This record gives sequence, C-alpha cells and structure tokens, in this order.
Amino acid sequence: MKSNNSILKTIGVSLVLCLVCSSVISFAAVSLKEKQEANVLRDKQQTILAAAGLLKEQESVDQIFASISEKIINLDTGDYDFTIDLSSYSQKDYSKNELTSKTLVPKEDIAVIKRRENFAKVYLYYKDEVLEAIILPVRGLGLWGTLYGYIALESDLQTIIGLEFYKHKETPGLGAEVDNPKWKALWKGKKVYDTNGEVILSVIKGQVKRNSPSSLYQVDGLSGATITSKGVTNLLHFWLGEMGYGPYLKKLKESNLGNSNV
Ligand SMILES: Cc1cc2nc3c(=O)[nH]c(=O)nc-3n(C[C@H](O)[C@H](O)[C@H](O)COP(=O)(O)O)c2cc1C
Repeated sequence: MKSNNSILKTIGVSLVLCLVCSSVISFAAVSLKEKQEANVLRDKQQTILAAAGLLKEQESVDQIFASISEKIINLDTGDYDFTIDLSSYSQKDYSKNELTSKTLVPKEDIAVIKRRENFAKVYLYYKDEVLEAIILPVRGLGLWGTLYGYIALESDLQTIIGLEFYKHKETPGLGAEVDNPKWKALWKGKKVYDTNGEVILSVIKGQVKRNSPSSLYQVDGLSGATITSKGVTNLLHFWLGEMGYGPYLKKLKESNLGNSNV
C-alpha cells in the first residue's frame, strides 16, 4: 500500500482545501452583497428616524421612512440641487472624488475629515405639510476613528431633537458611551446657535450646571473619554457651521419652511 505520508500529498490536500474554502467564502460574499448593502441602508434609515424621535414599535422602518423627504443640497451655496440622482448619490464617493469635493486646510478641518463633499443628502420630515424635523448627516474624528451619525433639528433650525451615531470605533464603556441612551437623551432641547448665529453648543468636561444660563448649549462630557467628547463638539461645530450646513440652514430659515424648495 502506498504511504499517505508524503510532503507532496500534504501540500496537495492543503491546496485543495484552501481552494474549496476560498470558493465558498467568495460565493457567500458575492451572493450576500446585496443583502449586506440593504442591511447597511436600513441601519442608516433607522438611525435617521431615531435621531428625529420618529421610531415607533408598531411601524416598520420602511413604513416610517416613507414619510421622510430626501433632498440633495449644494453645501457651498445652500441651494437644493435637482441634477444629482438621489438614489445613486453616495456621500463616500462624493467626498473621495476631487471633482465633487474639496480638500480642507487644517484650520478649517476641525472635524478632521480631510475632504468635504460639495453636495450632501439631507432628510426632511413634514407632518401635514409643515416641516417638523430636519435630519443632517455628520461625521468627524473621535479617538480611534471617524464617528458617523445624524443630528436632527426642530423646524426652528436651532433646537436639537436628537443625535445618533451609526458607525464609530470608540472604546466600549468610554467613547462608545455616545450610544448610551442616557447620554443621548441629554441632547433633546439643547440649542445650537448664539444670538450672532455662531455654533456654541458643546460637550463639556464634567457635568452641566443645571441652573447656569449656558446649560441650554451644553451637554455632559463622557467620563474618561474627553477626546471623543471633544470630537463630537468639533464635528457638530463643523457641520452646523459655515463649512457644513450653515449656508443651507440660513437659506431655509429665510424661506418659507413649508415650501419644499429653498
Ligand atoms: C484602552 C483605552 C481606550 C480608550 N478609549 C478612549 C475612547 O474611546 N475615547 C476617549 O476619549 N478616550 C479614550 N481613552 C482615554 C484617552 O486616552 C484619554 O486618557 C482620555 O480621553 C482623557 O479623558 P479624561 O480626561 O476624561 O480622563 C482610552 C484609553 C485607553 C487606555
């Protein structure tokens, strides 16, 4: 009887095994791609609804999301853009492409995102044709990587409904406390701008003094996670300021809010 103990046979069996396993994995990755993309989209939609306080147990995400109106805006001018196809718009692709984004110099790049897309997708929630909430995508560096999320504002474009992140790399128990419902609840009702229209909302170190006049513009810091807390402040200052949605929010405020065109 021939021995199975040869090096060639061992290598042969290993190679066949590798081939079979990699084929199975490749097949699974390809066939599940669509499902994975659908799950990512659903997760984002759920985050958008959660930020605006619109999630309900009785209704599915799809059902509730149907009441959200999506728009593309030009971040530099603050106008709506009707030339870009809503369904094919990708924030990631737009921010990578030199033709559709700009490089930020360190002084303006307070959220540390390096490039800012020229166009963004925003989400409007109308109830009985009256604007109730506007939900804006935000992102910026924490300690370990970029935090991605949404901030929802009331129709006064000044009062926060909620802030939710759907992707980040912060440490569980420290920076990842951005996902703690108790911390997230602190954002409701906070104000963004001072009387000159400057963003002053910030996550402070320690606890907010409830009776202080600035408490309306402050949120408790995450303990042991000052870098993440600072990152959240910075990303909000960037996105709600002149380099972000500032021009759009200004135009929206000056226009009739119930009108779907700025
Ligand atoms: C393993 C490890 C993970 C950490 N994760 C975070 C984090 O996610 N976010 C953060 O701001 N700080 C994190 N820190 C702490 C920072 O290094 C830094 O000490 C902290 O932000 C200072 O915050 P404090 O002034 O509130 O203590 C981590 C530290 C260690 C050792």
